Amino acid sequence: MDWGMKNRLSRIIKPKNGRCVMLAVDHGYFLGPTEKLEVPQRTIEPLLPYVDSVMLTRGVLRTSVNPISNVPIVLRVSGGTSIIGEDLSKETIVTSIEDSIRLNVACLALSIFVGSKYEHQTLANLSTLVDNGERYGIPILAVTAVGKELVRDARYLGLACRIAGELGAHVVKTYYCEKFEKVIEGCPVPVIIAGGKKLQKEIEVLELTFNAIRDGASGVDMGRNIWQSDNPIAMIKAVKSIVHENFSIKEASDLLEMEKKIEDKSTVVIR
Ligand code: 5RP
Repeated sequence: MDWGMKNRLSRIIKPKNGRCVMLAVDHGYFLGPTEKLEVPQRTIEPLLPYVDSVMLTRGVLRTSVNPISNVPIVLRVSGGTSIIGEDLSKETIVTSIEDSIRLNVACLALSIFVGSKYEHQTLANLSTLVDNGERYGIPILAVTAVGKELVRDARYLGLACRIAGELGAHVVKTYYCEKFEKVIEGCPVPVIIAGGKKLQKEIEVLELTFNAIRDGASGVDMGRNIWQSDNPIAMIKAVKSIVHENFSIKEASDLLEMEKKIEDKSTVVIR
């Protein structure tokens, strides 16, 4: 592997333990102003000190992240669809490799929709992106998106992750599921998990993170369960404690409660 590729990957997945805490804030690329991400800068800025990297689009990067910030950027470069459009799987690559280099990104991210109407198109997108990434030493994160009608089980997610790895993705993002270790076993590159829709109880977020790490995930690329929480800083710290410090669910939950008190105290209420 080339020096540049290794260097960028090491900024995303920490070499000391092979783990990663990525903050996902790319939802607007097809969902528009998602709840609690309406003003991206407001959501993103307070969380940056606690994450290893941030995943977002170039529009949000340029408008909402201070360029002197040193946080590694995972740039989402697939899109071209909307939640009210014909088919979410009809994605294309929407950002050039030149602009990604200009933005000094550490990684490029794109979705693949295995089993969907536009499966071939999205897998071809991945292959093109891997070729471009290899040319310039930029790793590729493949996001295994699931169509409405597909079940998020180990068989399906294992298929999607393996295909992503075979096509040259350097990291794969998927969902946690039963028999997750089978998904890990079948994927030749590190796998990280999305959080999915906001879970009802905070403890469920910690359980999800703990179980995924226990079963072989290299980390998280989490969004809504962090910034839709009433205490996003406390939540990211608790999730990070599991990923990077091998905290148990109980230890992370205790940390969460302690950090919530600190966060609540420091929130200034303007009347
Ligand atoms: C959307 C994405 C999101 O970044 C991903 O789903 C992670 O966010 P969340 O934890 O909110 O699910 O890639 O396609």
